[in-house]
Amino acid sequence: VFSNVARAPEDPILGVTVAYNNDPNPVKINLGVGAYRTEEGKPLVLDVVRKAEQLLVNDPSRVKEYIPIVGIADFNKLSAKLILGADSPAIKENRVATIQCLSGTGSLRVGAEFLKKHYHQGVIYIPKPTWGNHPKVFNLAGLSVEYFRYYDPATRGLDFKGLLEDLGAAPSGAIVLLHACAHNPTGVDPTSEQWEQIRQLMRSKSLLPFFDSAYQGFASGSLDTDAQSVRTFVADGGECLIAQSYAKNMGLYGERVGALSIVCKSADVASKVESQVKLVVRPMYSSPPIHGASIVATILKSSDMYNNWTIELKEMADRIKSMRQQLFEAIQARGTPGDWTHIIKQIGMFTFTGLNKEQVEFMTKEFHIYMTSDGRISMAGLSSKTVPHLADAMHAAVTR
Ligand code: LMR
Repeated sequence: VFSNVARAPEDPILGVTVAYNNDPNPVKINLGVGAYRTEEGKPLVLDVVRKAEQLLVNDPSRVKEYIPIVGIADFNKLSAKLILGADSPAIKENRVATIQCLSGTGSLRVGAEFLKKHYHQGVIYIPKPTWGNHPKVFNLAGLSVEYFRYYDPATRGLDFKGLLEDLGAAPSGAIVLLHACAHNPTGVDPTSEQWEQIRQLMRSKSLLPFFDSAYQGFASGSLDTDAQSVRTFVADGGECLIAQSYAKNMGLYGERVGALSIVCKSADVASKVESQVKLVVRPMYSSPPIHGASIVATILKSSDMYNNWTIELKEMADRIKSMRQQLFEAIQARGTPGDWTHIIKQIGMFTFTGLNKEQVEFMTKEFHIYMTSDGRISMAGLSSKTVPHLADAMHAAVTR
């Protein structure tokens, strides 16, 4: 009965790792998926995560019962506090519904399903370009996806005028997907003044912000700075949705731990919203897993562990920044034609190099460098040892 099923293509991001794994050449580098690697090119489990896991394993009171549909209560409270800030009026007034979900993707999907059922506008505007999974998540939830201008290839920066024009022309009430910080794939973020202008425009048109916060702490090294865009919107008392992921900032990729927060106008509305989100979750995966969220709650609850986490987080962010500097200098040293200052100007995990599909294919074929076909490289996958090889490849691709 399945003989007519056509083979699907690999995922544009995760498929890069499949191709990398199949390449026997030892010089190969995987700069595709956004996953942190050490200077030795190894995945990193944070010390503070190992400590939290030990505490959990040694706690005899822990059982493996089902947890509530909305997840672990402490985890939810602490996640809202992390993104909104300890003194957020929305938290104090009890008008935030937070639900533990399966990392960022799961949080986006649950939020989208909720909106499809309970929100009057079925259209979501997403930036062009954006993370490749965004349109699929929202389409499959039944929302219709439109794009707003975001990136200007000429300046390799923000197309702020285009952004304002497109959001200004969006229908009243449309949902707008915003990257809270470290825009993926471009590494280009609005300034705080630009965020304020975006907020004013969106509120004046009743556009509903849906933040994807996948890199809190990774862009600047500071958890508070990277949450500023979200907090600006929440401070005005209006509604918004936030999808949080702990994949990158706690290195919990495969534990699939994240949260969806829906900021409402009153405590009564928030509790009704939460009751409806439960109806979305129950038929989808019933209730979330325990382990990853318990690690996060253990760390966020203890001021010592929290402080240790911020130190390790800053070390990761700093290593990425140093990779930017080293790659930029290596390109300069080779005299590669073009302006490459965007490598040090862009922020977060990725550099949107400006290399085209043919150049990327050439680098993969000749230099065994794996990256997404849009020219995005994960700076977190680079090390001092691999920078020269990447710079050689980029130079050859640009000058051939
Ligand atoms: C990425 O963009 O590489 C990450 O967000 C990982 C993923 O799931 O695509």
